[in-house]
Amino acid sequence: MSFAAGQPLYAVVPAAGVGKRMGSAIPKQYLPLAGRAILSHTLGLLLSHPRIDKVVVALGAEDGYFSDLAEAGHPDLIVVSGGAERSDSVRLALAELPEEAWALVHDAARPCLHHDDIDALLAQCGAQGAILASPVRDTMKRANGVGNIDHTVEREALWHALTPQLFPAKALSQALTEHQHNRAITDEASALELCGWTPKLVAGRADNIKVTHPDDLRLAELFLAAARSEQ
Ligand code: C5P
Repeated sequence: MSFAAGQPLYAVVPAAGVGKRMGSAIPKQYLPLAGRAILSHTLGLLLSHPRIDKVVVALGAEDGYFSDLAEAGHPDLIVVSGGAERSDSVRLALAELPEEAWALVHDAARPCLHHDDIDALLAQCGAQGAILASPVRDTMKRANGVGNIDHTVEREALWHALTPQLFPAKALSQALTEHQHNRAITDEASALELCGWTPKLVAGRADNIKVTHPDDLRLAELFLAAARSEQ
């Protein structure tokens, strides 16, 4: 059954990571970005989308920052404890969803998402779910393990997988449980691909970046400023 009007839609935000690659003392989802924490931008964006019923956020066990966010007490927000891996955090958050709900899973670390990207995902989603993605633009090389090129990879059909990713909550939960210890599961779609699903690729905006390295913060700030001036 495809996503349709009237079905409950819950956003799921894994935010239990420590963001090792940022090299900062506080988890990256709490780093300041244009005057607010990264996670505050992400939650605000999801909570203000008219089609999203509730937002479930998975936090780390030691999280001492969340209660300071303006969104912390929002009536449509549900807080759960995350797990050791991103997929564990998503699986634990999915337990809060009604059986018939659809889950829109979005990384805490992607604060520049626009409502029109969510709208495109909802509009184009088929029976086997959908993900936001962007076609690969650069020439792609596979390395030989010692820093040299082994060969060039055909980029024609290659896409970057972004979030949000939209799936029926029950099927996604079953797939993540079945493949719980598989380290190749780095997004929601990959769990369902292992179950034989072929989710739809929906071309998303290029500014929906994941804040991973310190330099990404400056870029994210520019994208947020540009979005504000568009309004
Ligand atoms: O580290 P990375 O950027 O790939 O993490 C993607 C998202 O998954 C982040 O929002 C992070 O907080 C979340 N995560 C999680 N639980 C973990 C690890 C990562 O919720 N155990």
